[in-house]
Amino acid sequence: MNSIIVGLQWGDEGKGKVVDLLSPSFRYVVRFQGGNNAGHTLVLGDQVIALHLVPSGILRKEVQCIIGNGVVLDPQVLVAELDKLEKMGVDTSLLRISSIAHIILPIHRSRDSSQEEKLGSQKIGTTKRGIGPTYEDKIGRRGMRVCDFIDPKIRQEKLRSFAQNSSEHSYEDLEAWSAPLAQKLASCACDTPALLHDAILAKEPILFEGAQGTFLDIDHGSYPYVTSSNTVSGAACAGAGVGPTHIQYVIGIAKAYLTRVGSGPFATELFDEVGETIQRVGGEFGATTGRPRRCGWLDLPQLKRSCMLNGVTHLCLTKLDVLSGLENIFVCIDHQEDPIYKKFSGWSEDITNIRNFEDLPQNCREYILFIEDFIKTPIKMVSVGPDRNANIFRGSFF
Ligand code: IMP
Repeated sequence: MNSIIVGLQWGDEGKGKVVDLLSPSFRYVVRFQGGNNAGHTLVLGDQVIALHLVPSGILRKEVQCIIGNGVVLDPQVLVAELDKLEKMGVDTSLLRISSIAHIILPIHRSRDSSQEEKLGSQKIGTTKRGIGPTYEDKIGRRGMRVCDFIDPKIRQEKLRSFAQNSSEHSYEDLEAWSAPLAQKLASCACDTPALLHDAILAKEPILFEGAQGTFLDIDHGSYPYVTSSNTVSGAACAGAGVGPTHIQYVIGIAKAYLTRVGSGPFATELFDEVGETIQRVGGEFGATTGRPRRCGWLDLPQLKRSCMLNGVTHLCLTKLDVLSGLENIFVCIDHQEDPIYKKFSGWSEDITNIRNFEDLPQNCREYILFIEDFIKTPIKMVSVGPDRNANIFRGSFF
């Protein structure tokens, strides 16, 4: 039951919580695209850690985490996250990174910032982590892969060529930054597709953890206001080196409303106090940049398209509790010149301690069932609070 988890909106749907919840059913958790533009906060007892690169499964001892070839990897961020995790007592020795993943260099971060600056009011609103420029170099066939980075001769040759095209970074600075990081990376770099193939032969279940969301996909998203990788489920195969015949399920995560960070179209965006309430109650501030997230109503034609693009078999609806207390809740059911909404009466009850679907307030159940019927995809789980256990399962999950 190898499964892919993907965000069905513009990211921040709560994938980390679902990965954490489902990871006991898996032996491997693999990231397959994006980089440290992603972010999720994990809670370990009374300790809180924000991870941007290391897969969410790292807190489970029995899970082996893998950073696949489709990821762009900032070695400085990886080493800092591993240090932090080890200080918290988490064993990170099983983490493996693909030897053919591409490296984010300081040069890429600078280029990300200066490209955004040049765009002025047209800016994408990137996380400025160097994600786009690193993928540009990868596609341009001049990138630095992990295997290049950990080989001093190849690394130095490539750094010289990068420095030649930069006014900000000298070869000496780049090499001084790279050498100690390369040493740390060397021990966990390997042929991850081969490792995963062995896992498949041994029937050890694998969870592929997507980052960002479907409408940030470079092809299917609201271009050019997108990230620079494919975020849809299909990307898991190329980004991990696993054939599609080995995947059984696609788990899509969607919030009960909608948020977006950065620029770009957002038809159901709210500019009133309801939007502010959702932002405040939902804690809608970016885990990576701290930027406030734009908030709006759920867009069902968009969600239906997302289920189609990803081939979703299981849907998890998250943060339903954030809507408690609103007098009315709207969902977009069509797009004409303006969005067309269906209005639902809200519910005032606190739902965070409810664990059975039947115990939810009737208006809340109606909201969920309407969504399910519209998108024609089973809602298998509803998250009703930030707590690991604050979930309602509808039937057995797998
Ligand atoms: P980049 O990925 O840093 O190039 O940013 C491109 C767009 O994707 C910007 O609008 C970012 O705000 C958005 N973005 C990137 N990663 C995430 C994420 O993990 N959650 C939400 N938005 C993201």
